[in-house]
Amino acid sequence: MSQRKILVTAALPYANGPIHIGHLVEYVQTDVWVRFQRLRGHDCRFFWADDTHGTAIMKSARLAGVTEEQFIAEMSEAHQRDFDTFGINYDHYGSTHSETNRQLCHEIWSAFKEQDLVERKKIVELFDAETGEALPDRFVKGTCPKCKSPDQNGDNCDKCGHTYTPKDLIDPISTISGKPPVEGETDHYFVKIESLQEFLTQWTQCGEHLQDEVANYLKGHFLNEPLRDWDVSRPKPYFGFEIPDTGGQHFWYVWFDAPIGYIASTKEWCEANGEDYNDWWRNEDSEIHHFLGKDIQYFHCLFWPAMLKTAGYQTPTKVHIHGFLTVDGEKMSKSKGTFIKAETYAKHLDPAYLRYYFASKLGPRLDDLDLNFEDFVTKVNSDLVNKIVNLASRTAKFIKDVGLSDTYPDDGGLFEYGAQLGEQIAEAYENCDYAKAMRLIVELADRANPYVENAEPWNLKKDPDKKQQLQDVCTVALNLFRQLVVYLQPVLPRLAEQVGELLNDEITDWNQSQTPLVGTPVNKFKHLLKRIDPKDIEKMTEESKLEVADTDQEDPGAKYNDSGQPMIDEPLADECTIDDFVKVDLRVARVIAAEHVPEARKLLKLTLSLGGDHRRQVFAGIKAAYDPEKLVGRLVVMVANLKPRQMKFGLSEGMVCAAGPGGQDVFLMALDEGAQPGQRVH
Ligand code: MSP
Ligand code: ZN
Repeated sequence: MSQRKILVTAALPYANGPIHIGHLVEYVQTDVWVRFQRLRGHDCRFFWADDTHGTAIMKSARLAGVTEEQFIAEMSEAHQRDFDTFGINYDHYGSTHSETNRQLCHEIWSAFKEQDLVERKKIVELFDAETGEALPDRFVKGTCPKCKSPDQNGDNCDKCGHTYTPKDLIDPISTISGKPPVEGETDHYFVKIESLQEFLTQWTQCGEHLQDEVANYLKGHFLNEPLRDWDVSRPKPYFGFEIPDTGGQHFWYVWFDAPIGYIASTKEWCEANGEDYNDWWRNEDSEIHHFLGKDIQYFHCLFWPAMLKTAGYQTPTKVHIHGFLTVDGEKMSKSKGTFIKAETYAKHLDPAYLRYYFASKLGPRLDDLDLNFEDFVTKVNSDLVNKIVNLASRTAKFIKDVGLSDTYPDDGGLFEYGAQLGEQIAEAYENCDYAKAMRLIVELADRANPYVENAEPWNLKKDPDKKQQLQDVCTVALNLFRQLVVYLQPVLPRLAEQVGELLNDEITDWNQSQTPLVGTPVNKFKHLLKRIDPKDIEKMTEESKLEVADTDQEDPGAKYNDSGQPMIDEPLADECTIDDFVKVDLRVARVIAAEHVPEARKLLKLTLSLGGDHRRQVFAGIKAAYDPEKLVGRLVVMVANLKPRQMKFGLSEGMVCAAGPGGQDVFLMALDEGAQPGQRVH
């Protein structure tokens, strides 16, 4: 087969949070495919980056009190650390916030403009009433219009999952000033994607580039009616790239520049390696493969090909879309400890286990994939360790002095059978049916194990006359083992490396599965993979739970569940100075008499003492909330220099301080024991 030139990408992780085991489904899937292609001798490169723009990242940076640039730099490091831990072998890791990406965005934008595909239109959106800043979705909070949970973000509800726009929120407030936002009109830039309808229909429906279920979904949900113009701009402030010629007022929406990051990453790698990125992106002989989750298929199967087409790039050869990870049948949950960060996993368990487990569950379709811990332990311990790794651990030690036999012994056709199965296994990898590939491999192991059990090398070892037989049996076992490990190399690269060392023959080529190794030395057996101890799983989920508790601690207020409603009902007053404040003379006062005012529905008449013979008469609207007898004797805070006011019932010489909307919900301001009537309250 001739060598293929294959460019691979995985979705660019958002730089606003750590990598978790859900991401790893995709990144393991991609890495396995890339390693498989390389093992088959193809020129396969994996270009990748962090997705760094948008409001979520702006907000996270603000919360962390750092610049966006600092924030994304740290996140990029953390992401790459996790990827190295999990053996994800990309060629280059870029960032969408790079100069290369900015230039490519300009180029693709110019192509849209030249082909008259850009339109400027007004839309109504929300602004901060105080600062005048446009408010992106996540800068507006309010009550979910569906389930009525308070304090929800402007784009979707944490509690019920409903999605909406900030304008749909009940009692919205701007998170910048805490005041209700105001509506205003702004210009946005739109791409008239409908002009590409014919191309997109052809591209999505031709049966070559997409899984059938994806093609059908796009046809049923988008392509059966005119495509709506795509809003590709966001007004400032926005962490992203400015759209040229808009005077810094407009930025590209993150989903415009994010996929362009695939090209930018390629270009950066090419520049460092003396290649031309056009050989990858504008070359019919190069294949482009994207891996991503079903939540973002619509960006990659409609907008992205439209962008590439318009700017004269090659459209993707294939978009490989996967389902979502659940843990023990449920969505990953922070409180159950099943929202597991890559880093936390790796503290307790070998990344190889998860790579193998995901591979054993990943099929070519979009079904969700469940991490069931019991199944996880069984698959790793009985299939991987007992059936596969044990082939070597039970035999290698017996021939470390003599090495492999000089000619390959008769094994009853086992090796030959395994070699022939190679093409089926390869086809399964190629089609992303790793579950099938793993099944075929375990079936081969199921044939190899009875051979070893019947031959009983551990008994042959005891008989000095059976040295040759022992060497032959171990030669067969180790060759069958090695064949399996070649097939498993894309999934378990570390194991393949160790086996290469054991047998003095590095595993670099799929064809090594086709010919047995003979006459070579065997090194001292070093332990390969141990069994999972279920206790480690428990420790991992416990630690994941604690991490959630940690983040709760960051907001010590969370546990009180105080609603934001009062601040919404009564936003903060204009700023005042200390001079303004001291004009109001607040004093400690003791209630020395309290009585109903028969003619007044809401009022009580209070006689307050400021100590000595300083007395004040005050009418207070607290009748529904307080019983006059119970007030006598207690301390309150009063505004003592308020201009007296003549009321129907008498003169009111001040005010007592209280909170609450009124009626029964009135709460007098109290003072701790020891305060003296007449003391000033500052
Ligand atoms: N930044 C965008 C992608 C831009 S690509 C130009 C994004 N980032 S993400 O960090 O939210 O997700 C990255 C990938 O991980 C996506 O393909 C997403 O589908 C996948 N997954 C995130 N959580 C997942 C699971 N729980 N299960 C499986 N895949 C998941 O989307
Ligand atoms: Zn809701």
